[in-house]
Amino acid sequence: MKLAELTLITTNEGKYLEIIDALEGTGVSIRRIDREYPEIQADTLESVVGFGLNYLKPFVPGPFIIDDSGLFVDALGGFPGVYSSYAFRTIGNEGILTLLKGKGNRRASFRTVLGMVHEGKEHFFRGECRGYISELPKGVNGFGFDPIFVPEGREMTFAEMSVQMKNDISHRGMALRRLKNFLVNHGTLS
Ligand code: IMP
Repeated sequence: MKLAELTLITTNEGKYLEIIDALEGTGVSIRRIDREYPEIQADTLESVVGFGLNYLKPFVPGPFIIDDSGLFVDALGGFPGVYSSYAFRTIGNEGILTLLKGKGNRRASFRTVLGMVHEGKEHFFRGECRGYISELPKGVNGFGFDPIFVPEGREMTFAEMSVQMKNDISHRGMALRRLKNFLVNHGTLS
């Protein structure tokens, strides 16, 4: 059966805009539910997403997706990683820049795990984008750590890019392409 509607549960407007853009032209309309759900303290994005899917299942009729992402900084042993949300609320972009002061290695990656419940089953789609942390915040687009992250091979931060440009190379864009492939291969997309 063709998938006409996919529910996205997120309070994050930026994620919503990126997901809408990536799935444009697929014929699937995104219905957003703007609500929080419990995010457990765990070592992996997959565990956080898995818990969220199970928690939400009884409340959401039909197929739905959630997104959990994080910024993993090499010189900080992968911090903030699964603690990205807490780190952003507390130390923010300036705090990450301070932690990296004097460090030669500014390499980092963004990772996304998209979780979907479709026909009662759970599916996970992953995406990663390598890059580095800029010296100063730049740009006004996007959200979260976008002003301090420069993807590999580029000279602009994510916050200096349009939604489409970011989706072409980002962790979330990659996870969404994998989701789209899954839907095409399972005959739920034309
Ligand atoms: P969440 O738990 O997936 O909502 O995200 C953890 C933290 O990482 C939040 O502070 C987000 O703002 C931030 N974040 C998630 N995805 C991105 C992104 O694509 N760009 C910049 N920051 C992000």
